[in-house]
Amino acid sequence: MAHDISIDETQFNTMIQLLASSAKDLFLSPACRQYFAKDTFEKRGSPVREFTGPSAGAMPGTIAHNRIQIDDGTFTSAPRTLRLINPLSSIHDVFTGAVNMKVLSIGPRTEMELLHLVGIGFLPGNITGLDLISTSPWIDLGDMHAMPYPDTAFDVVISGWVLAYSKNPQKAVDEMLRVVKPGGIVAIGVTYNPDAAEIEYKNEGDRIQGRIFRRVAELTAMIGPRLGPIYFQHEPEADEKLPVMLIARIR
Ligand SMILES: C[S@@+](CC[C@H](N)C(=O)[O-])C[C@H]1O[C@@H](n2cnc3c(N)ncnc32)[C@H](O)[C@@H]1O
Repeated sequence: MAHDISIDETQFNTMIQLLASSAKDLFLSPACRQYFAKDTFEKRGSPVREFTGPSAGAMPGTIAHNRIQIDDGTFTSAPRTLRLINPLSSIHDVFTGAVNMKVLSIGPRTEMELLHLVGIGFLPGNITGLDLISTSPWIDLGDMHAMPYPDTAFDVVISGWVLAYSKNPQKAVDEMLRVVKPGGIVAIGVTYNPDAAEIEYKNEGDRIQGRIFRRVAELTAMIGPRLGPIYFQHEPEADEKLPVMLIARIR
């Protein structure tokens, strides 16, 4: 039987008060993350900094391609982080102890992904962002192939839709394994695109097609002997455009 939810005014106002009393819950909403990240960015005067050092593996055109959603003011990818951060949030030690964990977000592009991590319980001071483009003082400028962090600095490392921009993904994964603690967690997401399966990467003006990953096994092979239990994996069953995702513990 169909069930309609109708919220009366009292219920609505009470729920708004509940949300206001636990502000981090606001960041579980993609629309709120998008609004807040964009508004903060604009109020700061919208500075965008770019990594200018030599990259040990970024594809040509990566910065120009990834600036598009910033420069056009849309910040459109707000819902995508649900795919990787929601399953991450259900792992026991994250669910119960995120407040004590240090997390690195590689390639957040904007604060939206960092705010999502706040929503699932990480403290802002324990969240580090690293990107070739920085839209916020919260996001360090740097290259994932040579990260400016010491060994074993993080409990969790997340790389959502970033590896496609690498000419040398093994080097990027080796860096993730260097900065994550033994016993920590790595979360990786990419998109498989069958229309681009014949090519590794190409530039179309500023648009990069990206490196193609088809199977989770391609991700686990890069992790190698340090791969621990797999908590979440996802790949297309047929030859269709879908995400390839892995969340695993690292030995
Ligand atoms: C497609 S966006 C992903 C944004 C967000 N993680 C998401 O899932 O929606 C890819 C981001 O990775 C960054 N990136 C690409 N190559 C990088 C590299 N070598 N080092 C650091 N960041 C990189 C880009 O600048 C961009 O901000």
